[in-house]
Amino acid sequence: MSFRTLWFEDGALHLLDQRGLPARADIVVARSAAEVARAIRDMVVRGAPAIGCAAAYGLALSLQSGEEFAAARALLLAARPTAVNLRWALERISRVEPRSFAALKAEADRVLEEDLAACKAIGRFGAPLVPDGKGILTHCNAGGLATAGYGTALGVVRAALAQGKQCAVFADETRPWLQGARLTAWELLQDGIPVTLLPDVAAASLLGSGRIGCVIVGADRIARNGDTANKVGTYPLALAAQASGVPFFVAAPVSTLDLRAPSGSAIPIEERSAEEVTHLRGERVAAEGVSVFNPAFDITPARYITAIVTERGVARAPYEVSLPALAEGKPR
Ligand code: MRU
Repeated sequence: MSFRTLWFEDGALHLLDQRGLPARADIVVARSAAEVARAIRDMVVRGAPAIGCAAAYGLALSLQSGEEFAAARALLLAARPTAVNLRWALERISRVEPRSFAALKAEADRVLEEDLAACKAIGRFGAPLVPDGKGILTHCNAGGLATAGYGTALGVVRAALAQGKQCAVFADETRPWLQGARLTAWELLQDGIPVTLLPDVAAASLLGSGRIGCVIVGADRIARNGDTANKVGTYPLALAAQASGVPFFVAAPVSTLDLRAPSGSAIPIEERSAEEVTHLRGERVAAEGVSVFNPAFDITPARYITAIVTERGVARAPYEVSLPALAEGKPR
């Protein structure tokens, strides 16, 4: 891949600042848990696995910056509520003994390396599911920018194309933060993969046209029954896919499974600022005084999901059975 999303160098976490892409590729340097938490909150780094990787380094950094460990952990945990990879990474780093910077940083390195390996494995498991000769539709950015590299949904896309499948890639622009227009389009074009951008509201027509062989999206949190939280707009995409008879796949590492959440109703949904909807590039476009509903994620009920692709294999309904089996390490 032609860019790095996050890396540790010279005693600090370096993050490609995703707020400026594609116009600017600035780097943000974080030297403490508080600085990492701010970077997650402000979406310098985003995407569930990348948030987990950043939080892992953030907690390690607290031992170098002199922050109180429990307070640093709580600050990181509160940075964004929906991506469960954040909690997963913090719990994993907290278990490390001895509690030294070197030991915690080494574990954070492993979280990063394992995430990259997981994305490659997701690609291997997912590529055979992709119909040849038809389009693939994706939403938001579940690519290298949202992970340690390669991506989950885009990992499947990359692997299918590498196998020689002839699939045109379509990306929803993903209002209001435009992850599809700004990030997925940039990331794929950087790698020489052609991509067609569409307004979110055009997705149902595209699915109805017969040009799309499958939809592939990432996930921020998958409940025990398979209900999946992902970027807002995923649920209507699943409904439209079902109505058009198009398979709908979720691609995510096992670290995105939350077996403590029995169903989607237990998943907290982040609400973001009204400005994201009322303004475009700092300029107001909505009528003054209007109220705003701006959930960052929605829940796709498991019954609309054809399969969930993980690094340990492909889970299908009943997810209450297949997901715990994968989490326990039983390959399928
Ligand atoms: O608000 P974001 O950009 O962090 O939302 C990201 C998504 O919804 C992704 O699809 C999800 O985190 C999976 S990333 C591999």
